[in-house]
Amino acid sequence: MRYDDIADELDEVLVTGEQMAQRLDELAREVERDYAGLDILLVGVLKGAVMVMADFARALQRPVTMDWMAVSSYGHGTTSSGVVRILKDLDTDIDGRHVLIVEDIIDSGLTLSWLRDNLLSRGAASVKILAALRKPDAVKSDITADYLGFDIPNKFVVGFGLDYAENYRHLRDVAVLAPRMYAQSE
Ligand code: IMP
Ligand code: MG
Repeated sequence: MRYDDIADELDEVLVTGEQMAQRLDELAREVERDYAGLDILLVGVLKGAVMVMADFARALQRPVTMDWMAVSSYGHGTTSSGVVRILKDLDTDIDGRHVLIVEDIIDSGLTLSWLRDNLLSRGAASVKILAALRKPDAVKSDITADYLGFDIPNKFVVGFGLDYAENYRHLRDVAVLAPRMYAQSE
């Protein structure tokens, strides 16, 4: 573990930054094939998807545009509230556009299910989903990741954009947060 200052706040690393970079490269090749001849608008979900977006978009060897939305589904806790609110909307008119949503993680799938329907209702020609990570509960939702990085166990993870109370987003690896870090507040 490279994070000496916070080594006691994290448990095991589930996905290293190198593994993620390699997987996103593979997914970029798939997306290039699947969207041959089509414009792509990547829509990142702030703030968790910032790292996935940065790495995935740069792995793409073709023209692409990016936009961002901020929605809230989690507060400072570690379980989904089921309530989705738009905190920042797109700047782009997506009518007729091929939208690829770029997300950090699918847990309950509530956020993405809502977001996909919202973008389709604006007239997007297609809406697909790329997620860096997926947890087991995702099978209960109607959301499938068209492009998936890694399946992980049902543990609260941080790093590679994912936070706990806004901390740890900058870590290169995806690591399990030591449960004692949030045990008091639950
Ligand atoms: P869902 O609506 O339950 O699928 O939750 C999606 C959002 O919850 C993600 O975009 C994350 O922002 C957040 N989230 C879910 N699981 C984790 C986790 O293990 N660590 C940090 N954030 C998480
Ligand atoms: Mg998120």
